[in-house]
Amino acid sequence: MIRLHNVSKTYYPRRGDSAQAVHALKDVDLQIPQGRIHGVIGLSGAGKSTLIRCVNLLERPTTGIVTVDGRDLTGLSGAALNEARHGIGMIFQHFNLLTNRTVFANVALPLELMGMQRGAIRERVTPLLELVGLADKASQYPAQLSGGQKQRVAIARALASRPKVLLCDEATSALDPQTTGSILALLRDINHKLGLTILLITHEMEVVKSICHRVSLISDGRIVEEAEVGDFFTAPRTRLGRDFLNDFLKLEPPRALIERLEEAPGKRSHPVVRLAFSGDAVSTPLISRLARECGVDVSILQAKVESIQERTLGLMIAELMGPPAKTREALAYLESHDLHVEVLGHVQRDD
Ligand SMILES: Nc1ncnc2c1ncn2[C@@H]1O[C@H](COP(=O)(O)OP(=O)(O)OP(=O)(O)O)[C@@H](O)[C@H]1O
Ligand SMILES: [Mg+2]
Repeated sequence: MIRLHNVSKTYYPRRGDSAQAVHALKDVDLQIPQGRIHGVIGLSGAGKSTLIRCVNLLERPTTGIVTVDGRDLTGLSGAALNEARHGIGMIFQHFNLLTNRTVFANVALPLELMGMQRGAIRERVTPLLELVGLADKASQYPAQLSGGQKQRVAIARALASRPKVLLCDEATSALDPQTTGSILALLRDINHKLGLTILLITHEMEVVKSICHRVSLISDGRIVEEAEVGDFFTAPRTRLGRDFLNDFLKLEPPRALIERLEEAPGKRSHPVVRLAFSGDAVSTPLISRLARECGVDVSILQAKVESIQERTLGLMIAELMGPPAKTREALAYLESHDLHVEVLGHVQRDD
């Protein structure tokens, strides 16, 4: 449904401006099938907004091709581009509503611009306001609404032209956690009911976890990692991915232990490991088996269970206590059992 092929975007300074050119996107490839919710996560300035704005050509890529619903948008301009954009809705962090128009008139605006008749507009707008739960607010003004309600108006407006794609740029970043939850539930509902393809930009792992099917991680204009959400939360492949995950899970060894961690194993050291269990491994008593079958004691430093979509994910930080030959055997045992093992380091034991 959405395809970015080798897309780069460079912002050049104006003539006479001594600023450097900014390479905001570099060779970005992205494919999002119809009906999927795809998240893009990255730090501030990584290029997230540039990327999403290239999808509807609010920013024109410097090089590369953007196709949406099989149409090459980069080959279009003027009226043809405008017409193609009706198939792409967009919502923003700060809602971008017109303050002097009622809720109804805000949602109606794109239809007025398309030249639709008043009766047809009413028929289109009324069910949209019902869909987003604002049927009783049609004649109110944005100033009378909460942030969550404003974003609902913006969602209804974005859906007015019956797009196949919805772009969301930090759509919940200005909202409190509870309101964020209700907006994400609405987006999930729309995705389900209308089969809408959603591309969503965020810097919050919570958003990725609760709504996305797949996620791309962007850093310095490049997509550095892409995975199904369950896989990303189990075993991110890049340093940045692990940083995002650890930040979110707040699952780290105690600081005093981190300071004592050494990279290489020593004669009397114990490995400290991060274990991620999914699937059958969650319900198998692996830790007690480890003690029984490998003769290794396990000291659990931290543990938690997360639900990620339909999957249950168990996470644990533990020290494996025993002689090196035994702990090596224990690591091999764990690795053979459908769980992801990462050795964080080794800690010397004098006792
Ligand atoms: N119109 C512009 N002119 C020049 N440089 C720009 C322009 N828009 C963005 N940039 C630069 O491009 C880079 C990527 O910016 P972008 O807004 O895409 O990042 P972002 O990931 O959305 O960040 P944030 O999380 O803060 O919104 C930054 O270095 C930014 O300063
Ligand atoms: Mg941005």
